[in-house]
Amino acid sequence: MALRGRPTPQPEHGEDRPRFKDRAAEEYANPEANPFVRSHREFGHPLLPASEAWKWHGRWPELFEREAPLWLEIGCGNGFFLRDVAMAHPEANLVGIEIRYKRTVICAKKLTKAGVNNAVICRYHAAFLDDLFEEGSLERIFVNHPDPWPKERHEKNRLISRWFLEDVVRLLKPGGVFQLKSDFPPNVERVEALLTSDGEDNPAPRLPLRITGMSEDIARDGAPWPDDVLTNYQQKMAVRGKRVLGIELIRE
Ligand SMILES: C[S@@+](CC[C@H](N)C(=O)[O-])C[C@H]1O[C@@H](n2cnc3c(N)ncnc32)[C@H](O)[C@@H]1O
Repeated sequence: MALRGRPTPQPEHGEDRPRFKDRAAEEYANPEANPFVRSHREFGHPLLPASEAWKWHGRWPELFEREAPLWLEIGCGNGFFLRDVAMAHPEANLVGIEIRYKRTVICAKKLTKAGVNNAVICRYHAAFLDDLFEEGSLERIFVNHPDPWPKERHEKNRLISRWFLEDVVRLLKPGGVFQLKSDFPPNVERVEALLTSDGEDNPAPRLPLRITGMSEDIARDGAPWPDDVLTNYQQKMAVRGKRVLGIELIRE
């Protein structure tokens, strides 16, 4: 059954898990309409088009040519955070995923220019993380400023949802950490409720995630984790005087 908010499952023959349709060949996108369709395919390492990214499922150490803790950033935008975290944490292998072609190219250019060799950027959709990662394979997941979809009728489009937290539980190792920052308060404020309900106030089994810290205003009170790395949107919000909230959870 499709979970509320997750895009319609696209099972392949013999598969019952949802798959991102673009992983087949990304044929649907017209390169003439968006020049970044072609340039993202042609960029090469560290940019993986969807049709390449899923092939590394269970094989990320091979891509990075070493065993190291695997960290994921979802919705990297222009890649400031991915680059800066990769540089601050040479001990980790980082995979970033971003849906927009142009942003994957901008992000890949940043990684290349900085000489980062422990991060890659994949053009992929956040609803299909099982295509990319094995259960219990991630040590850290970051989501920074997910698209807010503030209108109530668009609420089903929000990433921060019960199905997404279920994905987080499945993919994190026990003891793994999920960190979320957002300038849209409901995204952070309803995480606690989603741990025990489906988002429409219907009770659901408790998810094995424990909140270890929360900040209602990172600029004022600090982040609920040490050494917060600023994101592009976080800096934009600071300029606008808009607060950014943060929450950290640990996989039990
Ligand atoms: C508001 S921007 C934040 C960018 C960056 N994380 C930051 O904090 O500066 C949200 C980003 O998520 C990306 N995004 C939205 N939906 C996505 C999805 N389903 N899968 C992957 N990325 C997505 C958008 O293209 C955009 O770059």
